[in-house]
Amino acid sequence: TRRVRTRDLLAAKSRGDRWPMLTSYDMYTAAIFDRSGVPVLLVGDSAANNVFGFETTVPVTVDDLLPLVRAVVRATSTALIVGDLPFGSYEEGPTQALRTAVRFMKEGGCHAVKLEGGRRVAAQIEALTTAGIPVMAHIGFTPQSEHAIGGYRVQGRERAGADIIADAHAVAEAGAFAVVLEMVPGEVAKQVTKELAIPTVGIGAGPDTDAQVLVWQDMAGLRTGAAPRFVKRYADLAGVLEDATRRFADEVRGGEFPAAEHTFS
Ligand code: KIV
Ligand code: NA
Repeated sequence: TRRVRTRDLLAAKSRGDRWPMLTSYDMYTAAIFDRSGVPVLLVGDSAANNVFGFETTVPVTVDDLLPLVRAVVRATSTALIVGDLPFGSYEEGPTQALRTAVRFMKEGGCHAVKLEGGRRVAAQIEALTTAGIPVMAHIGFTPQSEHAIGGYRVQGRERAGADIIADAHAVAEAGAFAVVLEMVPGEVAKQVTKELAIPTVGIGAGPDTDAQVLVWQDMAGLRTGAAPRFVKRYADLAGVLEDATRRFADEVRGGEFPAAEHTFS
């Protein structure tokens, strides 16, 4: 088997085939998602919340993310790996964006990068694609701007739908190979998906996008507590791991572990 290519994703859209995408930040999950047939893995800046324990994605750095990108690339053989450019690493303009994206490609070894924004980052997307770096765009709710947006809020309701549609066309014209639509009304996502030749990847964008992405700890129920409306939990990993941990701790305290079969003679 060979790696998935961006052109495979375009071909899937022309056939009308939907595809799944997940985040991954480490070798074991990456290997599992790869052999489960998930064609695209994102080393998201959501590592800020889901690995490093920050409240927002704002603090995470390129140097934080690159080792995670390398781990995910090393652990996979089929999935296309997308590295997420963190806040502060591309906003200054095409030159800064190119410098950061080149680090992701060379040092991280990923196959594409992602950045947030529509019309306001079209120049960056054009510079990267011109340099031979595939770009996934990300519009609608963009978590790196949550302080300006005022929290996690659906974007593009009513007349603001036109802004989402304009952003979608701008990133496609700038050369993006796909675009994430986060927390936008289903009707807007459906229209964007119909109008664009490139695949749309929805998260909180309804059922009509070409692909769907979730943060893996949300998908597998490792994150507990209230989840956003768009999350579906396919497992209770937190429960499984807590149960295993309690049994291990109990057996250590009770002197049942290690037993003879775990002991060298
Ligand atoms: O960082 C992330 O997890 C993301 C996806 C949710 C699209 O950007
Ligand atoms: Na992200």
